[in-house]
Amino acid sequence: MVSPTVVSAANPMPHVGTPAVEFEALDTAHRDVLKTLDQLAELIEHLDGNGVDDRAKDLATTVVRFFNEHARQHHLEEERTVFPSLLASGDAELVQHVQRLQQDHGWLEEDWLELEPQLEAVSKGYSWYDMGLLRAALPVFKALYLDHIDLEETLIYPEAKKRMAALPDAGVGRSGAQTRRQAKA
Ligand SMILES: [Fe+2]
Ligand SMILES: [Fe+2]
Repeated sequence: MVSPTVVSAANPMPHVGTPAVEFEALDTAHRDVLKTLDQLAELIEHLDGNGVDDRAKDLATTVVRFFNEHARQHHLEEERTVFPSLLASGDAELVQHVQRLQQDHGWLEEDWLELEPQLEAVSKGYSWYDMGLLRAALPVFKALYLDHIDLEETLIYPEAKKRMAALPDAGVGRSGAQTRRQAKA
């Protein structure tokens, strides 16, 4: 007969449900955000001088695809794999920072929903975009992203890495080895 598992502080339940965090992919996504923000700035300058042409359509297509797909996936991935352990940490200051990041994700989405129809139109060759709106929206969107990424890279990812490395099963298998290696980086 198999003895029942005794769960106690000294023998906690294994963290079977803890999702693995792909920190390298998250860092790469941040580099891609910065690159795409530069492409958005280039597009707005280009539209101002040239109107809608093939270059404008290409840039708009790239920017729309990135923020509609990759950036949204990145935010979801952080909410699924990085934030939960920090929200459960009991560290009030840390929890407050994570809640700010969650709020940022909402604001970034709102800012993007304002930009997206304009850029979608440009990608299809239409000229009804609002230059004033694009010019006003870019610095707000960019500043929020830069602040957001800075907080994640300087505080939130390092804190999440520390916690992942401290999990009882952190040494098991390739994902554990990777987590420990990233935690030392
Ligand atoms: Fe984020
Ligand atoms: Fe991020």
